[in-house]
Amino acid sequence: MAKRVILAYSGGLDTSVIVRWLTERGYEVITYTADVGQGEELTEIPQKAKSSGAVEAIVEDLKEEFALEYCLPTLRALALYEGRYPLTASLSRPLIAKKLVEYAQKLGADFVAHGSTGKGNDQVRFELSTWALNPDLEVLAPVREWEFRSREEEVEYALKHQIPVKATREKPYSIDKNLWGVSIECGPLEDPWQEPPEDAFEWTTSPKRAPQEAEYVEVEFEEGKPVALKGKRYQKLSELILDLNALAGRHGVGRIDMVENRLVGIKSREVYEAPAATVLYEAYRDLLSLVLDRFTFHYFLTHIPHEYAKVVYEGLWFSPLRVAFDAFTSSLAKYVSGRVRLMLYRGHVQVVGRSSPRSLYVEDLATYSEKDAFDHRAGASFTKVFGLPLKVLGRVKKG
Ligand code: ARG
Repeated sequence: MAKRVILAYSGGLDTSVIVRWLTERGYEVITYTADVGQGEELTEIPQKAKSSGAVEAIVEDLKEEFALEYCLPTLRALALYEGRYPLTASLSRPLIAKKLVEYAQKLGADFVAHGSTGKGNDQVRFELSTWALNPDLEVLAPVREWEFRSREEEVEYALKHQIPVKATREKPYSIDKNLWGVSIECGPLEDPWQEPPEDAFEWTTSPKRAPQEAEYVEVEFEEGKPVALKGKRYQKLSELILDLNALAGRHGVGRIDMVENRLVGIKSREVYEAPAATVLYEAYRDLLSLVLDRFTFHYFLTHIPHEYAKVVYEGLWFSPLRVAFDAFTSSLAKYVSGRVRLMLYRGHVQVVGRSSPRSLYVEDLATYSEKDAFDHRAGASFTKVFGLPLKVLGRVKKG
């Protein structure tokens, strides 16, 4: 019996060549393609997979599952890798791996395969996620071991085997897209000094060319979930995100340019576009600061965003640690209801107003007007006691 493998298939050159390469080595290849909001037409995928040699091609719409189970928990953690990257590509890998594992089980395959290279993070995410869910599956990563030394050699092999190769001149970038954002690498971006050329960007207008008029957007949250944009309610979170990408992208919001530490030890220059995520992070953080008491808010900021981001970036999605972090952030999310008003203007997003039924902002306590209800005299005793350690220190130093 042929060895069966489920391959994560994008329809690009690499994964198409992988189909044929595995077939030649005696595997029966079933491709799996997910719609995670990359905005590409997937109707031709099955035909393409089969003409490369696949025996079956599965295409699934995972947009809502991706938005609810992967993007939303990451938003609730305000997770940014190295303080900047909203983890777009890192989030789709565990979901795709989960589906590969499910289909391997359903279709009796002992192998899963992906098209990641040996120096990236994605291989780690695919493989750790797969093994966490089924340690008996074997993972194949042909790109790590095959003989092609250049793209030209790969194209030559593809042409020899009638694998469809796009005739259009492709951009020099390696691009990964889903509804949470676009990751752009390679080509001219490999020089960290060089400003990203305009053609590297797909979803955002250059801030230099963005509208001269600011646009205001109101985002409404219910128990930590975005439910409405500009007064329009959404049944599906994925649709809200896609609309917000378009809206904020027009204003050039959400471009990120950074050098990041990859898992495999190298630094790489990465460019991202994440308009919706950027706006939602600003909005969520602002609402959180309004509804959480000081102790909880400070604990959250110190312990969650960086740690959560590392867990996701490093491929540990299916770990008890991530699940425990989610329990913590979902318990806080219950307080996060209300509205945030933001201004979008030429690459910037700025919160300009917030309100919540759970707001802890008490005007009588905050005001400097005659309505002031704060006990000013208590301030003297408080300051005296709070400052005691420094006063003691000052005395000892002096003496
Ligand atoms: N550096 C990012 C990450 O590791 C993006 C990876 C994107 N992958 C790609 N094939 N372009 O999450």
